[in-house]
Amino acid sequence: MRIKLLLPLAASAAISVYAYDTPTMGWSSWNTYRVNISDSLIMKQADALVELGLDSVGYRYINIDDGYFGGRDKSSGRLLFHPTRFPSGLKPVVDHIHSLGLKAGIYSDAGANTCGNFWDNDTIARGVGLLGHEEQDCNLFFKEIGFDFIKVDYCGADGRQSHQIYAYEPRDRYTAISNAIKATGRDDVRLNVCRWNYPGTWVNDVATSWRTTGDISPRWESVKRIINENLYLSPYAGGGRYNDMDMLEVGRTLSAEEDQTHFAIWCMMSSPLLIGCDLTTLRPETLNLLKNTELIALNQDQLGLQAHVAKLSPENTYVLVKDLGEKWGTRRAVALYNPTDSAYTISVTAEELELEGVTAARDLIAHTDINITDGVLSAAVPPHGTRVYSITGTRRIPRSIYEAEQAYLSSYQEIYDPIATGTAFYFPLESASGGMVVANVGHTPSNDLQWRDVRVDCDGEYRLDLDVTGKADGNLLLFVNNEAAIKLPVEGEGPRRLSSTVRLNKGTNTVRIASTGTAPYIDRMTVNL
Ligand code: GLA
Repeated sequence: MRIKLLLPLAASAAISVYAYDTPTMGWSSWNTYRVNISDSLIMKQADALVELGLDSVGYRYINIDDGYFGGRDKSSGRLLFHPTRFPSGLKPVVDHIHSLGLKAGIYSDAGANTCGNFWDNDTIARGVGLLGHEEQDCNLFFKEIGFDFIKVDYCGADGRQSHQIYAYEPRDRYTAISNAIKATGRDDVRLNVCRWNYPGTWVNDVATSWRTTGDISPRWESVKRIINENLYLSPYAGGGRYNDMDMLEVGRTLSAEEDQTHFAIWCMMSSPLLIGCDLTTLRPETLNLLKNTELIALNQDQLGLQAHVAKLSPENTYVLVKDLGEKWGTRRAVALYNPTDSAYTISVTAEELELEGVTAARDLIAHTDINITDGVLSAAVPPHGTRVYSITGTRRIPRSIYEAEQAYLSSYQEIYDPIATGTAFYFPLESASGGMVVANVGHTPSNDLQWRDVRVDCDGEYRLDLDVTGKADGNLLLFVNNEAAIKLPVEGEGPRRLSSTVRLNKGTNTVRIASTGTAPYIDRMTVNL
């Protein structure tokens, strides 16, 4: 849902801006309890969330995951609830959650069975998914019981994790479910797609968040893998839509340093924040971390942006960055992330952060202000550690380098083999700028790469240099805003630079790359300012 706000500018003028839903925050049952949940357990967790004051810092959703199903009524098809785990059904639980001023979330599957039915031997959860029951179940969940959120899993629609041998098309299933939710008349229900990979750009029209990886577990390797899989997905977040890095394992078995990295990076990436531990036995240090309002503010920032990689060091440490409050403004969030097993000092200059006039930064974990005298933000970061800052300059330096791995790919998806489907993808290449390129652009006009945020301070002619590498034939097609294509011949193999002088407008421009033949790997674009 988005709310239109009218902001008075002056007595006679007003501009409208949109305030979007920020990432979902709350608690979910799966990580600690799997299918072993009950009405009293869920209500106790909701009570604890309020007693601990977690609601007052933004955690508002209590989400019941897999485990509540009790089959279907044979004649009416009505969904039944588990006879011993939820003997009085779900309505009293949801009423209790709502009476606390919280919102309630539920779980289902896009196919016939749930994942717990397949993987956790929850035999009763067969035939309980949304397949063929979209309207009936959505009416029950959202009109009758009053749920406010639904996570829709995919085991039952995936031939390999269900009791049928055929598989469905995720786009068709989730679109049907989204339409059934809308048909209930509720426009405030949040739909989370759980297809364990970035599903495709279609998902933006269907859901408010989507899982981008397989399931998290409370081990460092799992947290590190999920961060790694999300580093180049920032183009697909924003405007109230979010990449979901999975529910939090904070407060379980990770070390204090790892818990901190896990939470801080989820905040930087604007991932939903769903606590996954037992709230009735929470340690004080866990509560402290989960209530770090300076980190939460990054996650709940109205721009809803996901941080991107600003710098990758030869040691494989990262600097992540995103704008806060205003796009292209002078306030930015910066994370120094060390996924390695050794300690490193990680440094970034104000210039690399596109800022001028930086004299101080705010450490959002230590809650201290630090002076910056030499224009360098630097910290010793232990193995698996992260340090996070907000940093403000006096001027934003216009950007001239646009990495391909920060661009939006119109056909991007991670479900199918991109070579087989002919869709573009991000690809690590050590010799490339930023260590990444985009491969497989072209074949069809819509399989393009877009830099949607090419920013210049003045109208005028600018030379664009495009660095590409790898085998190619035909022409690259360069489109600026809605202008006709400029053809750039690309024959050859090694690293090469293609140039063209184009007209850019003051403010934000879109530069789009497509191809008439086999496109080379696209490394980066330089706008000569
Ligand atoms: C899948 C999801 C998990 C959880 C379980 C429930 O594995 O990815 O997050 O919902 O199903 O069975």
